Amino acid sequence: MSGRHILVTGGAGFIGSCFVRRTLRADSNTRVTVLDKMTYAGNRANLREVEADPDRRQRLRVVVGDITDSAIVRPLVAECDAVVNFAAETHVDRSILDPTAFLATNVGGVHALLEACRAEQERTSRRERRATPRFLQVSTDEVYGSVESGQSVEDDRLRPRSPYAAAKAAGELLAFSYAITFGLDVVVTRGANTYGPYQYPEKLIPLFVTNAIDDQVLPLYGDGMQRRDWLYVDDHADAIAFVLDHGASGSAYNIPGAHETANREVVTALLRRLGKPWTLVRSVADRPGHDRRYAMSGERLRGLGWRHRVPFADGIARTIDWYVANEQWWRPVRSGEWNSYYSRQYADRLAASSAAE
Ligand code: DAU
Repeated sequence: MSGRHILVTGGAGFIGSCFVRRTLRADSNTRVTVLDKMTYAGNRANLREVEADPDRRQRLRVVVGDITDSAIVRPLVAECDAVVNFAAETHVDRSILDPTAFLATNVGGVHALLEACRAEQERTSRRERRATPRFLQVSTDEVYGSVESGQSVEDDRLRPRSPYAAAKAAGELLAFSYAITFGLDVVVTRGANTYGPYQYPEKLIPLFVTNAIDDQVLPLYGDGMQRRDWLYVDDHADAIAFVLDHGASGSAYNIPGAHETANREVVTALLRRLGKPWTLVRSVADRPGHDRRYAMSGERLRGLGWRHRVPFADGIARTIDWYVANEQWWRPVRSGEWNSYYSRQYADRLAASSAAE
């Protein structure tokens, strides 16, 4: 089969699977190999829509494996035209409970992928292949640290403040070092807080929506006035595809959200749509080192021609309605490992909580 072949690592996760679904839909000439470790956050059900579609299914291959494992990574990179690396440990609270896996995947895994690209570059120079794969590293606004005022631009100094953010910063710095030292074709995207269907219910929005559906309390950290800039998952996946096609080699691109707001406002919006009372909200002990605000300028990406499509009001309504309609997706993942994580993260906090004003 001709056409482009993309290796999507972490392609069974939240944003990765959205990228896979839209890429196979948008371009009938593209094939995708997903490499996913299927940790708690990877879920084959996220690709069910593709696997149920005869046309898209034949252009998708799923390999279960770890990006830190060179023996798995090398042959997959050898076959592809581009690598888009979504594979990561992503939850800040888990990185505070134990950073180990964050360093392994978010740094060691990036290293293994870059080494595989470097091996392909040598094959290119021996004319064993036409071109070396482009490497797109999916990063985050958290690498800038807390932004008290103004907006981060791509050349700002990175000041990550959690083990998660530090590991993501290390991963992208390593990627840039391979661009500079070895001449690899590297692009980096820094996405804002992303929300939408299929997000594992550990993050603010899916956790609070699914708790509220069950009339369980909503643990709001500190004063709830931390600010985030919310990016709908389809827009995030679309922007990554855009940077893959149009981004300048060696550059980073911010992907800001469409709506900067305080956590309290998000909680108010979702309770209103679900018709649930504010009395469900409990004020709990804050996250250590909690970043107060993220805000990025999207000028560079806008300059390339990319635009958001989904305003927050639409995106949050679609997301809430999806969780209401898709209990068969989220009830199974809110069990087993989720329960033990939930009690490690919240049991003491909830025992010492107070009603949120
Ligand atoms: O900004 C991009 C980042 O967004 C991604 O790189 C991360 O992978 C992703 O986890 C997310 O980071 P945050 O820490 O901002 O997302 P989270 O959903 O964990 O929290 C959003 C806000 O809600 C934050 O201020 C903490 C607060 N929060 C979160 C949880 C889970 C609560 O008040 N209570 C909670 O139980």
